[in-house]
Amino acid sequence: MAITIAMFNNKGGVSKTTTTFNLGWILAERGHTVVMVDADPQCNLTGMVVDIKEDDALASFYKDNPGRNLRDALEPAFASRPKPLEPVDCVAVEGIDGLYLIPGHVGLAEDEVSLGIAQQLSESVQALKNLPGSFRFLFDITADALHADFVLLDLSPGLGAINQNLVATSDYFIVPASPDVFSVMALESLARVLPRWNRWAMNASQLEALSGADYPFPQPALKFLGTVIQRYRLKSGAATEGFRAYFDALDTAVETILTPALDKAGLLLERHKYDEAGMDQSLRLQSIPDFNSLITNSQQVRRPVFALTKEDMVSKGFVWDTQKASIDSFRALFTQLAERVEILTS
Ligand SMILES: Nc1ncnc2c1ncn2[C@@H]1O[C@H](COP(=O)(O)OP(=O)(O)O)[C@@H](O)[C@H]1O
Ligand SMILES: [Mg+2]
Repeated sequence: MAITIAMFNNKGGVSKTTTTFNLGWILAERGHTVVMVDADPQCNLTGMVVDIKEDDALASFYKDNPGRNLRDALEPAFASRPKPLEPVDCVAVEGIDGLYLIPGHVGLAEDEVSLGIAQQLSESVQALKNLPGSFRFLFDITADALHADFVLLDLSPGLGAINQNLVATSDYFIVPASPDVFSVMALESLARVLPRWNRWAMNASQLEALSGADYPFPQPALKFLGTVIQRYRLKSGAATEGFRAYFDALDTAVETILTPALDKAGLLLERHKYDEAGMDQSLRLQSIPDFNSLITNSQQVRRPVFALTKEDMVSKGFVWDTQKASIDSFRALFTQLAERVEILTS
């Protein structure tokens, strides 16, 4: 059975999508088979894998690839079709073996309401009883079909029914954050919401209607892997002091607010696991600096910054030697991130 990891923060722009892509890629480089899921109706992750720069490209993609996206794949459950869910024919990510994508769909947001009603914890929702278990069921059969080791869920910001479902039915979650005042506030809200979602999932899994559904609601087993801090808001050279202060504020918020709340809710791994992974009290999986100019190349060639090659750079007019050191340092950071994820989930 594949290990499912949700990237979650109710704040946008904290690198959830970028981290999903980069972590997925490096895990695949390390020999794992990985399925990424674009569960954000904004479809940014899909845009990193499939060329959808042209205005109508996403619409053509859906037309040319029927059923090949998260929303269409779930349609048998959401439209109560007398047809079982089937594994998604994932898109193989170009340039790397073993990395796949379940593309997103802009219309997924429309399913939020039905799912919300189905998740109201009432035995009277017979007609909707298959919805709460359908996402995890789909991920499991898709991962099984590919013999995948990991499923990485890229979520939208926000606290709606879909995120509640996807986080609470995952095995693990990572919180990407950035060193600013809003991320500190977001952690406070996560400390309140995550225990609530987990309690909901515990109750849901006890409900006869949901556990006996065609797509049974899974037994919750959620655990926190840690945060990934991106420092990309830092303007070069300037504001180092203020930035440091937010870094410290984030660590403090994790240690004094998030961790105690998760601990109380049973959402932490045993301390020795984090020790084994070389993580301290801040439970920080990794800090990633600004990609600076490498981001442009990375987006052009659809490869992570750490996987850029000489050809990728030189052909775009960059001087290789000056970029190589930077690429290598990102590789070291993402390698350590992947190692930690391997250790924590083993
Ligand atoms: N370490 C980084 N350095 C520079 N830019 C980054 C970094 N991480 C993410 N970005 C950029 O920041 C923006 C937001 O990142 P994204 O992954 O889309 O965040 P989210 O999914 O949380 O909204 C994107 O344009 C992305 O390319
Ligand atoms: Mg995103």
